Order: sequence, then C-alpha cells, then structure tokens
Amino acid sequence: MPQRTPANKTRANRRLPATDPWPSLLAARPISQRLLHWYDRNRRDLPWRRHADDPYAQLLAEFMLQQTQVNTVLNYYERFIKRFPTVGSLAAADLDDVLTLWSGLGYYSRARNLHAAARRIVEQHGGTVPQAVDELMTLPGIGRYTAGAIASIAYGARAPVLDGNVIRVLMRLLAMTDDPKSPTARSRLWECAESLLPRKRCGDFNQALMELGATLCSPRAPSCDACPLRQSCRAHLRGLTGRIPPPAARARVLSQRMLVAAVRKDHELLFVQRPASGLWAGLWELPCEQVMDGESLDKARGRLQANLPIRCRLSRSPIGIVTRQLTHRRITFEIFTGTARDGHRPPRPWRWMSPSPNRRGGTSRACEAMIELLEARQALANPAKTIKKS
Ligand code: ADE
Repeated sequence: MPQRTPANKTRANRRLPATDPWPSLLAARPISQRLLHWYDRNRRDLPWRRHADDPYAQLLAEFMLQQTQVNTVLNYYERFIKRFPTVGSLAAADLDDVLTLWSGLGYYSRARNLHAAARRIVEQHGGTVPQAVDELMTLPGIGRYTAGAIASIAYGARAPVLDGNVIRVLMRLLAMTDDPKSPTARSRLWECAESLLPRKRCGDFNQALMELGATLCSPRAPSCDACPLRQSCRAHLRGLTGRIPPPAARARVLSQRMLVAAVRKDHELLFVQRPASGLWAGLWELPCEQVMDGESLDKARGRLQANLPIRCRLSRSPIGIVTRQLTHRRITFEIFTGTARDGHRPPRPWRWMSPSPNRRGGTSRACEAMIELLEARQALANPAKTIKKS
C-alpha cells in the first residue's frame, strides 16, 4: 500500500464522495455565533425588521418574499401594510382590493392564500397569528419554510428555515455535491439547518443565514474573503464554491402565441376576470385567445372577436406586441384594437374599467405593459384624445 502523504491526501480530497460524513464534523456553536456577530453588524434595514414584534408583519413579509427578491418586495410591502395594517383589516378586505395592491408582484396565488389565511386567523385563532409550526402549516399558502420563518422571527421558536439562499449557504458549508432537489439531500439540509440553530435568537440566526445567501454567498462569484464562515466552509477550503450547488437542469420552455383584444368605449377598456385557478387566476386582463398549432392568424382573430360579449370589429393586424418570459413559458401577446359598437354593460366576468393602474381588481405585469403600449400608441396617433387616466 502506498503511504498517504499530504500531497496525495489533497488529491484524494478533490475526488469528493457524494456527500461528506455529516453532521458530526460541523461545529455548530462557532458557526452560529460568528454568523450572528456578522448579522448584528451587517443586517439590512428592511421594513419588516422594524416591526419585529408584530407577527402579522412577519407573516406578510414571508408571503411576499416567497420566490421574490427583497428589493422587489420593498415598495409593495410598505404600501400593503399601510393599507392593511392588521390581520383583521386584511381579513375584512375585498379580495379584488388585495389583488389590486399585489398587481405586478407576480405569483398571485400568494395574494389569494394570504387573504384566506388572514380570514382563517380571524375566524379560528381569534385574530392572533399562530405560534407553532404545525399550526401555521395548516394555513393556506404556508409550507415548512414560511412556517419556520414566521415562528422563529415573530416568536423566537427553534424552527429551521430552508429557502434557495439558505440551501446554497449550507451546501457550500458542507461541500455537498448532491442534487439539492433530491429528497435525501433535502432532508439532510433540513437536519443541518436545525442542527445549526442556536439556543437563543433563532429568528435572527435564520435571517442571518438568508442574509448571507442574499449578499456574500451569491451563486456566482461569492465574496468569500468577507464571509464570517469561511474557516468552516468546506467548499471554500477545497476551492469548490464555483461548483456548489451544481447547475440546475434547464426546464423546457414552451412558446405560446396569444391574440389580445383592446376594446375601447369612451375612456374605458374592456377587461375580463380570469378563472379562479391557473395562470393569473382571478386577475383582470384584456380578453385574449391562444393561437392553436397550425391555426391561421385570421381564424384566431375571428375567434377572439366572436367570443367578445359586445359587438366590435378588431383591427386586421396587431398594433403592437408584448412578450413575457415566465418560468416555463414564453408568451407573445399580439394586440388588436377595436371600439365597442354598442354601449351595453357586459355580464360578469366582463367589465369596463379605466386603463389607469388604480382601477379596481389586480392585473398582471404583462397586462400593464400592454396598456402602457396602447396608451403610448394612442397618444402618438391622436394627442387630443388620449385615454383619460382617472
Ligand atoms: N427572505 C425570506 N424571508 C426573509 C426575511 N425575513 N428577511 C430577508 N430575506 C428573506
């Protein structure tokens, strides 16, 4: 047997086992202490951190932060909590008003779940956000991550969290090379997140992990020199940060072609509310139809026109195009214009509404982009008759 010299030991380390022995090698206490120390000096001043003792403020933040970055959430959060400062005020609100405030933030099922959760908290928990992870997880839209974040941040519970940022930090800390989506890796990561929790300040510790992932421990080019955990980070010590986590397999992106009807009557546009499930559920949109495989543009436009609830002739060609890239699909919207020939009020789910962003009922960012395009075109074509904003 050849002797194991320091040189070939290093080489052997390069060929990593799928995952190192775990968790005994991690010394939890120094890690949590160093991280908390760093957090106390580097934490960002985020609006929900100014309401640290208000569980509703944390619940709202966690809903908004699901799949959305902090910078995007900031404005929405401030406006939302001003309009609905308590769980009671949110529970009493009309869902349309909640969706209006959520417009543009995306993943609208979160807004519907948040509203339903607020109602459940009022009806079944006397208006107090539950403290226990299990109880929180019975509320709509709350999974283990969101429940852990609310329980630890609002109530100091010893509950771990695991979101995309935390997963990256922990995988690097452990030099974990597995696919983080695999059930085995996922349960290891939950165990690791739990084993690192300090005895006190669990909410701060969880936020510190998120903060480290969002700032220094970035996916590409992490700032290891400034990282408080660099002495314990196996990926850093072994020069593996660039390979951990492994790149995710690319999802197949579908292309969809939609024809949109921008029908005007006086100063209003015709909107239709989308069904209660599926993409942009419950939001108010301009009427549209998908162009089917092999279908001609004329035929699809004829279908769009025939399915409108009022008499109207649409333009023969689109006046503009808006494209949207969603997670798994790329949608091209071709916008046709028309003017209503009769003034009758269409039945639900149709409604005449002002094109102003303050209209009642939420709309997607794609729809807002189409309305902006329409207004710009109209202003150019006819400066005196621009659609009036109310
Ligand atoms: N991401 C999810 N929850 C967060 C929080 N409470 N603070 C910062 N980023 C987060």
